[in-house]
Order: sequence, then structure tokens, then C-alpha cells
Amino acid sequence: MSQPIPNTPERQSIHGQWSSRWTFILAATGAAVGLGNIWKFPYLTGEHGGSAFVLVYMLCVAALGIPMMMAEVMLGRRGRQSPVNTMQTLAEETGGSQWWQIIGWSGTVAGVLILSYYSVIGGWTIAYVFKSAGGLFHGATAEGAQQLFEDFVSSPWIVFFWHSFFMVMTMVVVARGVKSGLEKAVQFLMPALFVLLLMVMGYSMTTGYFSKSLAFLFTPDFSRLSGTSMLTAMGQAFFSLSLGMGTIMIYGSYVPKGTSIAGTSCAIAGADTAVALIAGMAIFPIVFANGMEPGAGPSLIFQTLPVAFGQMTGGLVFGVLFFVLLLVAAWTSSISLIEPAVTLLIERFAMTRAAASFWCGVLTWLLGLGTIFSFNIWSGTTLFNMTFFGLLDFLTSNLMLPLGGILIAVFAGWIMTQDSSQSELNITNPRGYKAWILLIRFIAPIAVLIVLLHAVGFL
Ligand code: PHE
Repeated sequence: MSQPIPNTPERQSIHGQWSSRWTFILAATGAAVGLGNIWKFPYLTGEHGGSAFVLVYMLCVAALGIPMMMAEVMLGRRGRQSPVNTMQTLAEETGGSQWWQIIGWSGTVAGVLILSYYSVIGGWTIAYVFKSAGGLFHGATAEGAQQLFEDFVSSPWIVFFWHSFFMVMTMVVVARGVKSGLEKAVQFLMPALFVLLLMVMGYSMTTGYFSKSLAFLFTPDFSRLSGTSMLTAMGQAFFSLSLGMGTIMIYGSYVPKGTSIAGTSCAIAGADTAVALIAGMAIFPIVFANGMEPGAGPSLIFQTLPVAFGQMTGGLVFGVLFFVLLLVAAWTSSISLIEPAVTLLIERFAMTRAAASFWCGVLTWLLGLGTIFSFNIWSGTTLFNMTFFGLLDFLTSNLMLPLGGILIAVFAGWIMTQDSSQSELNITNPRGYKAWILLIRFIAPIAVLIVLLHAVGFL
């Protein structure tokens, strides 16, 4: 399998290595598949009118997502350290400026910030598992479900409890390390996720609205395509594949030598897209069967679906399964969000993994309080018209991720020599490498810059 690749420094990661290419695919798919697939993708598709959005999304994954993912895995595997130190080493190696470390710093900080609110929503999800199991949605009206949600998020102590619980779940896995923590968790959780997803979809097929949902998702209707939906699709592809912030880079640093970067990146992007599409196929039949609005927005999952579950036969069981599914997806993404920070502390301060995980966990947990309070005692406190939670989401998804993405594309395409990237990627087909370098040098930075300018209101 592994052939010696010329011009490739042989570094070893002090944090360990995936046992096989398969576990890397599982772990990176676990990082990518998250709330973005099951919560954000369906509601964005609903808001942007369905199929045309889905088509643009898939094009963005293929033309932008896969080359960017290959770049991140490549940098990670070549540097074999935390994103900050990887970028430092690679900048030294290429004679580039030390400023390139900013890619690592921005990603590491973004990971902590995203996890701080991700964990709060992860906590909501656990609470919703219990609410569904307790039959709380039975016979609920739309107003009832909305009231239930609002009462829940406005009780800081209850949310605080579930947020803390979710943080502990995440840090326990991270503290155990690459092989006995991350790898063990995804080996069990990812198959469970797929089974749950298929079960919920199987249930949706019995509602009688499955073909209507397929038409909504897949019959192209370009009249509904606007500039904004195209940019939203591009941004979502980026967020969903976890690009631009070093999580794919750190996971790439544990990849065994000789693994095909192009092949694994295609597999991960394909699996992530498949989960988003299946989630759509699972959710829309339930929405249509109950005469609900597909464009309900972010509340689709926590306010709309519970009403549907409360009305349908078998809704209790499938409601529980659905929220467990959401929880698993959020959990495997969370462990990837904090890994860049944990590895940085281990490398820079010679901490043990347990201590580094503890301190990163405490910091993120404290920051999470800001998100909890955004829905109650601080809901009136805003900056630039956004709550603390809104600001974090905007700062990370709309600014830090695209900015990180542009810098990664420029570094991989322009700063690293083509000899190095070619030997590291080791693509046998010369046309394949040409296509990659074209996409990473020109298309990706320009496309992501447009998304960034759109996000800050310039376009
Ligand atoms: N990709 C994850 C999702 O779809 C979110 C995420 C973003 C995770 C960035 C890690 C890094 O929910």
C-alpha cells in the first residue's frame, strides 16, 4: 500500500495515528456530519425553495469542497502537529512568512467558539430526547410546541445542566486520545448514526408524502434560484464539510502515510452530502404530511417536527430516535472542534492530554454560558443587533471559516511548491492534479471571497 513518496518529510505525530484509512474516513465523516446536515441543511433547503438549492449545493461540494478538503488533509499530514504548529513548520519549510500561523490560530479559536454554542444546542438535543420519550409532544399544537421550546430555552438552569452534560460527554472522549477516544467513539457512533437515519427515513416513507418530498428536493426548478441562495449554498457546503478551521487539518495529521488523499476526501464529502440529502428525505415527508411549512426556518427541528411526532402513529418512538440521531451527529462533530486547541496545549505547554482536555473543556463550557443567557437573561443585550449567540455564529461561520478557507487555499496553491503538493497528494492521473491546482489556486479563493463579502454585506 504505502510507497515511498519522494520529497516528503517523514514526520510523526506525537498524538498518534488512525489505525487505518477507514477509521480516518469514519472520524472525518463524523466531524463533518453534524447539526449542519440534520438541522441547517433541511431548513435552508426549505427556505430556498428546494431542488435548485440542492443542485447548487452539490456542485459547490464537488468543485469547492473536495479540493479544499484535500488541501487541508494534505497540510495536516505534512505537518503532523496541531494546526498552529503545522502552519509554523510548513511556513518555515517553504520559506513563507510566519504570519501563515494565523490559519492555525484562527481555526483553533473558531473551534472553541463554535463548540461553546454547539454544546448548548447539543444539550437541547439531549433534553428533547427525554421530552419526546416522556410523551410531552403527544397531541401538541404548533403553539403548544413553540411555547414548550420557548419555556425550555428561557430556563437558564435547565439548559445549563444539559450543556454541562454534553461538554463532559465530549471531553471524556477527547481526553482518551486518538486511538482509545476518538477512534473508538466513531467506530461505534457512526454506524449507529446511519442506522438511525435509515430508520427515520424508512418511517417517512410510510407517510405517503415521500414522492412529494423527492420532487421538492430533486426536480430542478431554476426559477427559484437567486444570487443569495447560491451564496448560501456555497457557505453551507463549507460549514457542513467543516472546512476552513483546522479540524480536517488535525484529523489529516493522523492519517497513515500512503493513504490516498483524493480518494478519502471524495468519500468523506460524498458521505456528508448523502447524510444531508437523506436527512432531507426523512424530514420533509413528515413536514408535508402534517401540512406544515417547509420554509419554517431554524425552528423546523425543535418546533415543527415535535408537533408532527405528537400527531403521528409511532411518533413517540421515532421522535426519540430522531433526537438521538441529532445528538450523535452533534457529539462526533464536537470532539473534532476542540482537538486543534487540545493538541496545541499539549505541544506548547507539555501538558498531558487529560489536563489539556480539562482546561479546554472548562474554557469552552464557560463561554457556552453566554449562549445560554442569549435566550433568556441577556436576550435584550445586543451588539451590532445580534445576541451573544448570534454574534458568535456570525463571527465564526460567516467570517472566520471563509477567511481561514481563503488562506488555506492560497497557502496550498501558491506558497507550497507544486513539487511538494504533487508528491504529498500523489495523484497518479496528471489531469487530476492539474484540475486540483486550478481549483485551489483560482476558483476556491475567489468563490470563498465572494461568500465572505456577501456575508459582511458588500455583495
Ligand atoms: N460540519 C459540522 C456540521 O455540519 C459543523 C462543524 C463546522 C464542525 C466546523 C466542525 C468544524 O454541523
